[in-house]
Amino acid sequence: MPTTTHWTAPPWLQALPDQLPSWVDERPQVPWNLVGLLRSWSQHPKSMDFLDPESPNFSWKALQTRMYQELLDGVVELSPTRPQRILDAACGVGRFLVPLVNDGHEVVGIDACRPSLEAAERHLVGLSQESGKGSATLIWGDVEELVVPYDLVPDESFDVVLAMELLCYLADPASVARSLAKRLRPGGCMVVSVEAWPGALLTDLHAAKTVGMERCLEERVLAVPLDRWVHPFDAQELASILQGAGLEVLSIRGTHYLPDGPMMDLIDPNRVGTPDYDNEVLRLEAALRQEPETAQLARAWLAVARAPETNP
Ligand SMILES: C[S@@+](CC[C@H](N)C(=O)[O-])C[C@H]1O[C@@H](n2cnc3c(N)ncnc32)[C@H](O)[C@@H]1O
Repeated sequence: MPTTTHWTAPPWLQALPDQLPSWVDERPQVPWNLVGLLRSWSQHPKSMDFLDPESPNFSWKALQTRMYQELLDGVVELSPTRPQRILDAACGVGRFLVPLVNDGHEVVGIDACRPSLEAAERHLVGLSQESGKGSATLIWGDVEELVVPYDLVPDESFDVVLAMELLCYLADPASVARSLAKRLRPGGCMVVSVEAWPGALLTDLHAAKTVGMERCLEERVLAVPLDRWVHPFDAQELASILQGAGLEVLSIRGTHYLPDGPMMDLIDPNRVGTPDYDNEVLRLEAALRQEPETAQLARAWLAVARAPETNP
């Protein structure tokens, strides 16, 4: 599978985790999340590389990926019959990128975490040459700066931009949403998922207690120093960010009520990965989304937004 990787990260990213940037207190978001990620990679590489069938997280994350994919079915056209250009901002280990390349799409993936990109590279190598005519370009970089060779991510050049589980970890999500939206061709779609308020609070009380409940309520921040920093969004805030990026919001739906969500205790983790049980979890997720009160307790929102057909 044709894959090109650009290991051109800014110096502060290359220095992590041994050297923290001096502005870590003013802008904890990226360094804290990345330092936490890098530590997890060094301590539990198999858990982190959840696309590997040997990973203890394989079935768990596969179920979550399926939850996202089912919500996108019929909303965003990602069919192998019409290859598209896709930008996957914060592609991680490639759980969306690798199957998209396998389906024949031309995908550019950016991520700030080197071990995640290396895992994505390995999974791309694992695709059979016959499985499709797709291609991948991987970039080690910071989406907040997007200091990457411009010709790799030109304006108005992508049919679809993915920003899955990204904006809630950033210092300035609105400006990143604007920058990513600029890359969409007229009529192209942006797919965004973020941690949701208040579902993320209910799921991660440890981080709420660490940052202090009052600050958590006031600033909507869940944080553990040098491990994670999350700003969960309510659905209205997410809609405003997407509209502020010039996009029309087509849908915002709740997901992750059960796996890694506030009602996780309802799941038997030993049964996840068996088709009947996964279907049962998906049915229960849909029921929780259907009911107006429980719908608000989602751990994550999944939004789809579209660029205008012609620029104003
Ligand atoms: C929760 S993971 C989600 C990964 C992937 N989108 C998925 O859904 O599997 C968050 C990802 O965002 C990346 N990330 C966080 N801040 C970033 C930044 N400023 N620039 C690029 N990637 C960033 C992390 O390295 C990590 O891979």
